[in-house]
Amino acid sequence: MSAITFQNVSKSFAEIEALRDISLEIDEGEFVALIGPSGCGKTTMLRHVIDLEKATSGEVLLKGKSPGAIRREYKIGAVFQSPALVPSNTVLENVQMTLDITNVRSAISPQTILEDFGLGDFLNHYPHQLSGGMQQRVNIAAAMVHNPPYLMMDEPFSALDEMTREYMCEFLGEVLISHPKTVLLVTHSIDEAVMLSDRIVVLAPRPGRVNSILNVAFERPRKRSLKTLPEFAEKVLEVRRELYGVEIEEKH
Ligand SMILES: Nc1ncnc2c1ncn2[C@@H]1O[C@H](COP(=O)(O)OP(=O)(O)O)[C@@H](O)[C@H]1O
Ligand SMILES: [Mg+2]
Repeated sequence: MSAITFQNVSKSFAEIEALRDISLEIDEGEFVALIGPSGCGKTTMLRHVIDLEKATSGEVLLKGKSPGAIRREYKIGAVFQSPALVPSNTVLENVQMTLDITNVRSAISPQTILEDFGLGDFLNHYPHQLSGGMQQRVNIAAAMVHNPPYLMMDEPFSALDEMTREYMCEFLGEVLISHPKTVLLVTHSIDEAVMLSDRIVVLAPRPGRVNSILNVAFERPRKRSLKTLPEFAEKVLEVRRELYGVEIEEKH
């Protein structure tokens, strides 16, 4: 059974048709990126998985269960563009907060995960004392400390500068080797999608539809140096062609 199934999902907001007949199966432990022009429904797709939207028709299932059921079991971690940290709490307290809410048994200790994330020297710092990349690492730690099998990420690195973004991609790839999860990543960065994904879903503009699905077979761990290889450039081009194809089609 697939970890995440979109089964003929359509979603309209009043007169806006955001998603049309999306069908997609994501395997357990798979990393899938959603890419497509702004407004094509990437965030809306992800919000269905975390139970913040209900499909107008069709359904989203997680191992056969509803997103609501999975959410109530605290099996999903979510990371968004701006770190959702409490400014008056320390780094350690911010991560501990997830455990106070979820109270799950299989959790990792907040201190251990922060040490794994290279933040062992910053446990008692406050968010404003950290760089953007470090804040986002705390945010990811807070989303993963209760050991959820699903991780949903909506443009988590887009507020960071390019070098930090590249570092964070490498970092996330490594983290997922030691903490395997089923991941859905919304991104508008082709490089990021190629660097991280097993498959890239290219969406067509409104109403959002699946335009194409591309496999990315590079070995893991993937280092930043992968970007210097012609195979990487080729894959980027392949995604770019799918995206341009979408745009060209739209203009006619
Ligand atoms: N709550 C909402 N109410 C009305 N329209 C919405 C709502 N959420 C999203 N939309 C619309 O649905 C479309 C898809 O939005 P979104 O999923 O945010 O796109 P993306 O993340 O790909 O940029 C957009 O046209 C957006 O304006
Ligand atoms: Mg979005």
